Amino acid sequence: MSLTPIGGRLFDGSGQKVTTTSLREQKLRHDPITCLTAYDYATARLVDEAGIDMVLVGDSLAQTMLGYENTLSVTMDEMLHHVKAARRGVKNALLVADMPYGSYQVDPKDAIFNAARFVKEGGAEVVKLEGGERRADLIRRIIDAEIPVAGHIGLTPQSVNVMGGYKVQGKNLGGIEQLMRDAVALDRAGVACLYLEGIPREVAAMITAQVGTPTIGIGAGPECDGQVLVFHDILNLTFGPPAKFVRRYGDGAALITHAVQAFRADVRSRQYPSDEESYHLPKETRATLETVLERKRAMGR
Ligand code: KIV
Repeated sequence: MSLTPIGGRLFDGSGQKVTTTSLREQKLRHDPITCLTAYDYATARLVDEAGIDMVLVGDSLAQTMLGYENTLSVTMDEMLHHVKAARRGVKNALLVADMPYGSYQVDPKDAIFNAARFVKEGGAEVVKLEGGERRADLIRRIIDAEIPVAGHIGLTPQSVNVMGGYKVQGKNLGGIEQLMRDAVALDRAGVACLYLEGIPREVAAMITAQVGTPTIGIGAGPECDGQVLVFHDILNLTFGPPAKFVRRYGDGAALITHAVQAFRADVRSRQYPSDEESYHLPKETRATLETVLERKRAMGR
């Protein structure tokens, strides 16, 4: 069996490795692309083993994992920590790392350096950054440094203060034209895929038909080439009402609460651990110990 190193892991050839090339082929075959966020080893491994095509270590981890108010506070080092953990869990999926706010907006050299850290230290295969046509030159430069880039347009959470809240974008003709320009500019810059967040279905359909790069939608309707959701959203682990586009596939909060309460009750009622859940001395040691204790008792000690 030939072993190929991928992102610091040895890929043994089992299953189908998703690549930037195979994503494009999926688009051409009209074979829907699946993507979920995952931010740690165990989740990434479960998501990967369930056959999801792309694992995104999104900066949404600022809120879902770290409890920040929005995505603006999360740092490069915090993101890297999670990318490395997810890397250890992912074998076949394409691993995408989100560039946090401030890591690519200031200086193109810093942006390339930070993108390279995600590849070199984190084992990411693609980096994602937010913004449309104004990011096209930067994206070209990162790609020139041999780093595939995913674009992200529409409702871009890192612009929350500029947008004045989390608002659906592209609802009027001016907005639609801007989104079309953004999509075409990033497609021409060579993005490996394009995330479309919070835009009307009709606009996402036009973009998907217009660009060669696969579109991955979140709150962008069913015509996108693929769909992404936040892992914590599909499992009710977000402590708030879900957005309109979220579909819940399980109640993780109820499951965890039930298990934790059951453990607490068992410990308090001495139902846990049972004798079967305890280790025992070997028979001979036990017999010897009993003899020793008996002797001590007899000697009055
Ligand atoms: O950070 C994230 O989870 C994302 C997705 C919502 C696309 O960027």
